[in-house]
Amino acid sequence: MQSVESTSRLSRFRGGRQHKRLRGGARRGSVPAGNSSRTEPPPMMSSTDAPASIRRLVPEDARAYAEFRLAALEGNPLAFGSSAEEERGHALAVAAARIHDPARPQDFVLGAFAGRDVVGTAGFKRDLRAKHRHKGSVFGVAVAPAAAGRGLGGALVRRLVAEARTVPGLLQLVLTVSDGNGGAEALYRRCGFTVFGREPRAMLVDGVAVAKLHMVLMLDAPSGSD
Ligand SMILES: CC(C)(COP(=O)(O)OP(=O)(O)OC[C@H]1O[C@@H](n2cnc3c(N)ncnc32)[C@H](O)[C@@H]1OP(=O)(O)O)[C@@H](O)C(=O)NCCC(=O)NCCS
Repeated sequence: MQSVESTSRLSRFRGGRQHKRLRGGARRGSVPAGNSSRTEPPPMMSSTDAPASIRRLVPEDARAYAEFRLAALEGNPLAFGSSAEEERGHALAVAAARIHDPARPQDFVLGAFAGRDVVGTAGFKRDLRAKHRHKGSVFGVAVAPAAAGRGLGGALVRRLVAEARTVPGLLQLVLTVSDGNGGAEALYRRCGFTVFGREPRAMLVDGVAVAKLHMVLMLDAPSGSD
């Protein structure tokens, strides 16, 4: 039988480790010592320190998206519900369907680009069931380690929220984040999401139990409350 260990003992979030490492170093736009107020963020910068641009992915981006997504799944096994092992054989088809599915015209994936390289993504998927059409979910939020800690993740999620606000009849966005992935949870909170539940042992990753926090953003309430 598989042994089950909790993530509090086995913290393997690459994103979290990345944040800790970055916190110690000089971060572009970081608040100088002795100044408690946050400075205006600089333009989002990519790994090459060129400004990154964000746009919706189009079918021609499918290969680059598939490669980025597989790398994110491989690098962060505790952060995502999908696994690299499961997707590797049909990653291109998964990516293409997420970018464009004629049956789901309101869904989209945002990509952050440094030149031609995808360095970040955030996906939106509307629930199509009649009683659930007012809800959409956020999935696949990831930033390449070399581009992390510079505002790209926040910019992707804020842009996704802005675009979701234009979808007729959409009232709320939901997402899940693994309990213990403090960097991602903090990012979502900064974007207005609040936690409304916690599913214990939502995933088992190689015998490691991972709880998931459920978060919501009410699009018709600026405060994010209901
Ligand atoms: C979580 C993740 C998407 C965050 O992406 P990111 O681009 O690093 O996010 P941001 O830069 O917007 O925010 C991260 C940190 O940088 C800080 N930051 C943002 N802009 C900044 C700026 N201009 N200057 C200084 N710091 C800044 C944020 O305050 C935040 O600090 P914190 O670590 O104290 O919370 C990324 O780390 C990742 O891909 N992780 C692995 C996959 C994952 O966990 N995905 C989420 C699944 S639910």
